[in-house]
Amino acid sequence: MTSTIEPGAGAGSPAATPRGALRRPAELTANVDVAGLVDVESGLLDRAIFTDLRLYRQELRRVFAPSWLFLAHTDQFHKPGDFFTTYMGEDPVIVTLDRNRRIRAYLNSCRHRGARVCRADSGATRNFTCTYHGWAYDLEGKLISVPNKDGYPDSFQTADWGLVEVPHLETYHGLIFGTWNPDPQPLRAYLGDMVWYMDAMLDHDPEGTVVVGGVHKWVLEGNWKLAAEQFATDWYHVNMSHASALMLLSPAGKKPKEEIVHRQGRQYVDPNGHGAGFPVHPRNRFDAKTVHQWTDYDALRERLGDARVDGPLTNGHATVFPNFSYLPVNGSIRVWHPKGPDRMEVWSWAIVDKSMPDEVREAQRLYNLRTFGPSGIFEQDDGENWSEVQAVSHGFVTNSVPLNYQMGLGSEREDGRHPGRTSELYSDAAGRSFYGRWRELMNTPAWHEQERPHE
Ligand code: FES
Ligand SMILES: [Fe+2]
Repeated sequence: MTSTIEPGAGAGSPAATPRGALRRPAELTANVDVAGLVDVESGLLDRAIFTDLRLYRQELRRVFAPSWLFLAHTDQFHKPGDFFTTYMGEDPVIVTLDRNRRIRAYLNSCRHRGARVCRADSGATRNFTCTYHGWAYDLEGKLISVPNKDGYPDSFQTADWGLVEVPHLETYHGLIFGTWNPDPQPLRAYLGDMVWYMDAMLDHDPEGTVVVGGVHKWVLEGNWKLAAEQFATDWYHVNMSHASALMLLSPAGKKPKEEIVHRQGRQYVDPNGHGAGFPVHPRNRFDAKTVHQWTDYDALRERLGDARVDGPLTNGHATVFPNFSYLPVNGSIRVWHPKGPDRMEVWSWAIVDKSMPDEVREAQRLYNLRTFGPSGIFEQDDGENWSEVQAVSHGFVTNSVPLNYQMGLGSEREDGRHPGRTSELYSDAAGRSFYGRWRELMNTPAWHEQERPHE
């Protein structure tokens, strides 16, 4: 069930911002038509989409600014003033509970000279005081203190200089999303059939999920799309890239290949660019034993149905377009923050069922760390691949050679067991859909541009 969190009346919004004679020249935000770079119909991609700085800046304007972006988990906020700082694209934001216990998010940039007004990762506060010159803002984003205020002209009104507020926040089963789009599609509609797959991780019982441990953050030298795309569409790499990890986890006495290589499964292909893939295996080989033993699979089958318990519940990979991904197997939820065309920052949380006793939570947390923590045996393989692809993609000739996304071309269909359209377990179908959505957004003027598509 989606619960809507109404953002309060913002103390400051871009529309209310005094601009004086400022007029940004169109040349600064010129857009490129990307139709010739992404051919999802034939399954071909031009590598410029991973390396070009102009395209990257256009992504920030047209992909990140209008989209629903994951901000935090509701369990990170319990009392007024609890806060967490993160990014929407490259825009720093503060997420906090206001005095009425409503979740709100603000651009984390002082209205005076632009410094971050909150430099801590998370914590609790009564207000946000900029450490540069001392402007202070309350939990509702209002500017409440200006040192030497008498030095400003009479036209200076603190009401005009509150923090810029993220206009829309919504939650889905504990996940908080926000968007700068002033008139967005509701989050639930945006997620569409993807929620059926998400619920396989988020809706095991009515108590929902909580966060265990902190947020792990690390930097990878690769374009953010390489990671987001892989989590949407790529079970293909598992048997090769993770071969050594799979052998390590293989039950004793069995040949790794027989035990591990998954032959059955499906891949969900969402028209909004989301994707999820999952092998169907009689007994998942990656599960943490303690969690496995604690889990009441009969109850889960009753709640979620066989199709979900046999597939998306125990394993697999998923991306909510553009840059939120998760792994049901270990409760890893993560954001691929863009940091330029060649770099991303990975932020990863571990979530567990709230009903889990402490020892099971701890087992899941450790399992998460061992497999997909910053030095996890699987995570290391994945990061290496993305950095490898990125590192070689700047050569002129290399950059000119298209990439292949043709596996499972035309294979999407309604399979009668899973919602929406699905493809094979080994397929690039959700990847093509991801880039199709990216192409559409890159070629569509966002709300802040009005009628200026390719100036
Ligand atoms: S930059 Fe924040 S008070 Fe000056
Ligand atoms: Fe992987």
